[in-house]
Amino acid sequence: MKVLLAKTAGFCFGVKRAVDTVYQQVEENKDCKIYTFGPIIHNDEVIKDMQAKGVTVLEGEEDLPKAKNGIVIIRSHGVPKRICDRMDELGIQYVDATCPFVKKIHKIAMEKAEEGAFLVVIGNPVHPEVEGIMGWAGEDAAVISTAEEAEHLTVPEDRKICVVAQTTFNYNKFKELVEIISKRRYDISVLNTICSATKERQTETARIADRVDAMIVIGDKRSSNTQKLFEICKNACNNTYYIQTLDDLNVNQLRSVETVGITAGASTPNNIIEEVQNYVRINF
Ligand code: F3S
Repeated sequence: MKVLLAKTAGFCFGVKRAVDTVYQQVEENKDCKIYTFGPIIHNDEVIKDMQAKGVTVLEGEEDLPKAKNGIVIIRSHGVPKRICDRMDELGIQYVDATCPFVKKIHKIAMEKAEEGAFLVVIGNPVHPEVEGIMGWAGEDAAVISTAEEAEHLTVPEDRKICVVAQTTFNYNKFKELVEIISKRRYDISVLNTICSATKERQTETARIADRVDAMIVIGDKRSSNTQKLFEICKNACNNTYYIQTLDDLNVNQLRSVETVGITAGASTPNNIIEEVQNYVRINF
């Protein structure tokens, strides 16, 4: 059997960096308790493994005092400025593993606020990354995610507008919303801050799914980017299977196929991908 493994399967650069940071901190600080501000990724296997190594997840700002004598790791999504300020106030040591692409948006948000511009973030208002960006943007920034919200956006006439995007936002939708705002106001600057990692993974996955008899998509059931990969694969290849780990793989489904494609979401650890890949290569 021929196996095609997507090169983009698994952790993106920012997630890998954050996960590696946690393990590195555990290794280097044996006498100190390690916390993450929110789950470092949406993957039960990884979270369980970290918990087994003594890492505790802080659920929110109110949990910060618990970490007074420990080290807090900020995940790749980033946090609002007030969280960093609060940790400074409490004298908590922290390691910032915010993805550099997200950090860049924080910098833009701060600079634009200082210049007096009005920041518009195109993204999901309840996503932690967007909450984080808003927390660096001054008093009166806005988040929009629909055409209707773009039509009704109200910004004082004397303010310049700066538009940025959540890193995982859909590019076509971003363009559409920017066009709506541009028709209403002239004084806008637009910075496309969408990260290419998600798009590249989806494009490669679609290309592989088109060429194979069966497709395996590996990822946590709650991971929205894995669900999206599954949809893309299912459209191109009817024999698409969504598994979390090797245990979920039904071997009978692959008995009569000649080529199998494998892809994985951004929160799927490499060892799970390797395990599935090796199993398929050896047993079929
Ligand atoms: Fe960073 Fe892009 Fe991943 S913004 S966290 S590398 S999807």
